[in-house]
Amino acid sequence: NRVLLLNGPNLGRLGVREPDVYGSASYADLVAACARWGESLALAVDVRQTDSESELVGWLHEAVDTRSHVVLNPAAFTHYSYALRDAAAQVTKAGLVLVEVHLSNPYAREEFRHTSVIGAVATGTVAGFGFDSYRLALDAVRHHMLLLPQ
Ligand code: DQA
Repeated sequence: NRVLLLNGPNLGRLGVREPDVYGSASYADLVAACARWGESLALAVDVRQTDSESELVGWLHEAVDTRSHVVLNPAAFTHYSYALRDAAAQVTKAGLVLVEVHLSNPYAREEFRHTSVIGAVATGTVAGFGFDSYRLALDAVRHHMLLLPQ
């Protein structure tokens, strides 16, 4: 029941960064909330953040190798990183759940955010609910992993 909860570039700046879009709670608050939700769902959630594309790719490889499900906020990489897409595809092809999450609703924002190169290789996507997007994503992991062949 391991879950890697991975956050991409600029998400470490939550609370400071564009609070009108992303809210005033900090990244530390997000980590604490996700730890709580993981516990209540009996999931061992490991929350990480990086600004580096290569580190995210490595973490997705690690998910495959350790049979961990993934909650991924790819941040701006969502919109153009084929490297991340190819790494995410390996996770779902390995029979693991990968939920793409966004705090904001990208479809209500600039045109370039309307494209996700990750979406088609994810199990599913949750977007637009602020921190609650992560709670819903963890809940989706919890339910969907039970449907997978063991
Ligand atoms: C985001 C949406 C992306 O478009 C943006 O680049 C982010 C955050 C979100 O969580 O709403 O950095 O992934």
